[in-house]
Amino acid sequence: MGADLGCYNIADLREKARRRLPLGIWEYLERGVEDEAGLARNRASFDALTVRPRVLRGVETIDTSCEILGKPAPLPLAVAPTGAAGMMWHEGDLALARAAAAAGVPFTISSASTMDIDQIAVAGGRLWFQLYLWENRALSHAVVDRAAELGCDTLFVTLDLPVPPNREYILRNGFATPFRLNPRNFADVMMHPRWLAGVMGRYALSGGIPSQANLPDRLRSKVTESAMPGAFFKQDDLDWDGARELRRRWPGKFILKGILHPDDARQAVDIGADGVVVSNHGGRSLDASMASINALPGIVEAIDGKASVILDSGVRRGSDIAKAVALGADCIMAGRAALYGLSAFGRPGVERALQILRDEFVRTMAMMGARSIAELRQALD
Ligand SMILES: Cc1cc2nc3c(=O)[nH]c(=O)nc-3n(C[C@H](O)[C@H](O)[C@H](O)COP(=O)(O)O)c2cc1C
Repeated sequence: MGADLGCYNIADLREKARRRLPLGIWEYLERGVEDEAGLARNRASFDALTVRPRVLRGVETIDTSCEILGKPAPLPLAVAPTGAAGMMWHEGDLALARAAAAAGVPFTISSASTMDIDQIAVAGGRLWFQLYLWENRALSHAVVDRAAELGCDTLFVTLDLPVPPNREYILRNGFATPFRLNPRNFADVMMHPRWLAGVMGRYALSGGIPSQANLPDRLRSKVTESAMPGAFFKQDDLDWDGARELRRRWPGKFILKGILHPDDARQAVDIGADGVVVSNHGGRSLDASMASINALPGIVEAIDGKASVILDSGVRRGSDIAKAVALGADCIMAGRAALYGLSAFGRPGVERALQILRDEFVRTMAMMGARSIAELRQALD
């Protein structure tokens, strides 16, 4: 068992992360869009869900093992794709991947990672790859082919950002891409010396500021530069034919991420997807979007066992995992929960976050009287 790091829940890790990061990086990690109603709704919707525990079930042994997308897993948990982790911790993508591998939890490499997939893949463990399409589609195909070569067994195509989100705060804090130094963000960075030395200082010693890593060399840009022509994400022209084409190209499991409507879930199955992620991108895309936990029952019904259902957005407690599984999810993905651990302590912090979620999940199952995932699935009946 790892060190508790003085953190006993995800909120403790969050507070440590908030203190360590400059405001601009913190806001990128934490914030939603516009009035942040969606962000609040994700939590409120989990909190509004209650369970009816069963007693006298003999809960000495709780078995959380399950199958995720065709492979055995210790519990129904994976780490969601998150871009720019390298700005939160030195080589943050690798720290996330290593912590996930140590916990036996799948890790999803983001298209917007600041490290090359090759460098992340050395972590081992079960790796998935998340795709945003670059304007130059040939680039996307090349990156996806490389992800398959490196052993990523599942491709997630994220669909809930067809256009860039309205993150008004980046216009104020100056942490947009390209990054522009202004008096406010300069002072902000200077007031966070541990981050400055531990993250930027180490990059300065080891070859410079991270770049958009999953691109061929000639198209890479640093986070302080604008993207090269064609090397920026553009998906407003993507449709079901485009998704079908991606399905055809990818040899492994194929998942559509950011599904909230049952009809879209049905169509995902029709084009041959192996699953969907019920997600509102953690309240980071459309502020008016419904909470994914509220969308879950309709999607489970629409999918009707023909594909896997994964859920994310707002998971901060093991009881959230239990609620989602009880409502029919095969797996949940943690986004910010893992990033809080990363930003506070690096790899040990991510391991701590995953351990907290696991311990809380086991305790919740015992309290509910569910000894296995199969029993948990019946818990709301
Ligand atoms: C800082 C940050 C960066 C993210 N980057 C990506 C990304 O590159 N690709 C993607 O599909 N989703 C991305 N997401 C969304 C997550 O994959 C996930 O859907 C979301 O974080 C789940 O909500 P939660 O943070 O409440 O767990 C990001 C989320 C955060 C917080």
